[in-house]
Amino acid sequence: MTNNKSTGSHHRIAVIAGDGIGLEVTPAAIRVLDTIGARHGLSFDWEETGWGTEHYFKHGRMMPTDAIDRLRPYDAIFLGAVGHPDVPDAETLWGLLIPIRRSFDQYINLRPVETLPGVRSFLRDDTDIDLVIVRENAEGEYSSIGGRIYSGQPEESAYQQAVFTRRGVDRVTRYAADLSMTRTRALTSATKSNGIIHTMPFWDEVVSDVMRDYPQIALTSVLIDALAAKLVMHPERFDVIVASNLFGDILSDLAAAAVGSIGIAPSANLNPERRHPSMFEPVHGSAPDIAGKGVANPIGQIWAGSMMLDHLGHTNAAAELKAAFRTVLSSGISTPDLGGSATTDEVTAAIISAVSTPANIA
Ligand code: NAI
Ligand code: MG
Repeated sequence: MTNNKSTGSHHRIAVIAGDGIGLEVTPAAIRVLDTIGARHGLSFDWEETGWGTEHYFKHGRMMPTDAIDRLRPYDAIFLGAVGHPDVPDAETLWGLLIPIRRSFDQYINLRPVETLPGVRSFLRDDTDIDLVIVRENAEGEYSSIGGRIYSGQPEESAYQQAVFTRRGVDRVTRYAADLSMTRTRALTSATKSNGIIHTMPFWDEVVSDVMRDYPQIALTSVLIDALAAKLVMHPERFDVIVASNLFGDILSDLAAAAVGSIGIAPSANLNPERRHPSMFEPVHGSAPDIAGKGVANPIGQIWAGSMMLDHLGHTNAAAELKAAFRTVLSSGISTPDLGGSATTDEVTAAIISAVSTPANIA
């Protein structure tokens, strides 16, 4: 049943601003999206759920028991960040993010990584990075199968069962290959088939089976440890990288930090068949160290908003929005994480002004 319409000019978006700086960057991004939307004849109903740690403190749960059913009719979910120093991270993650990703079969986690103007990479100055990490988002190492036994005894042990299915590896590889066809047709697969002797050779096998359908693509399989090193040394050599849940998670934070700041990195949790709503969020967390100071970089959230526009079929608006924050960054307006002195509101206002006067967009 297809019940989330992903085209049209009016969209109902469920908002989970969440915790910490999520509460600051989400409203900022919404203002920007309303502005770009108005220019393109689009309108949004933003419906804030109020879920997150505040909800947890009041009700003992990150979100209500019927949360998934309530989210189902929306065109998309726009998420800030969840996480609070007084609540175990496993609680916030398994109480909100993971149930949403899994119930809506958001099996693709898409994380573009690009050098932006005015953002200094700590890597070589001349490095021009433009890559996309396609992370498997529904199975793999992040499975709930396992347990602990013999608590407090010398035999105490913990078991964590990874799950790799042919269907799961096949569909993430196909998504990455289709994306690669629209780019440079160089695809990298992250593996570890030397050390992890059951699941990773299986991953390699399914990847190479799928690639028979894509003879135009040059596939390179690289061991995850070497790949991490290569991403630091030569990030410009990569285009699309397909990786399992854990490997993709680690690589994308590494790549995001390499281009300058985790505060600019966006991600999309996609259900490519559009049977369920997809979810758009920045890569960063709730950043309790800077929360409430008004200095969080809103660009990760705004870029996530651009990916949402893209997914909803508004590619021109999405591209214009990206151009707008690039323009603002090249003009030297940035938050402290990028070496600037502007506040969240100042960066947001500059982006809104660039969006409103597209002649200024480079
Ligand atoms: P974090 O991403 O919140 O912060 C890491 C560092 O980057 C901090 O120094 C922070 O100030 C800085 N930073 C992050 N976003 C920024 C932004 N937009 N502008 C400027 N600086 C920024 O990761 P951390 O500290 O490991 O986690 C904090 C909480 O967030 C934890 O409870 C964690 O579980 C949660 N978390 C939630 C995620 C989500 O909602 N998807 C993802 C990652 C972490
Ligand atoms: Mg991560």
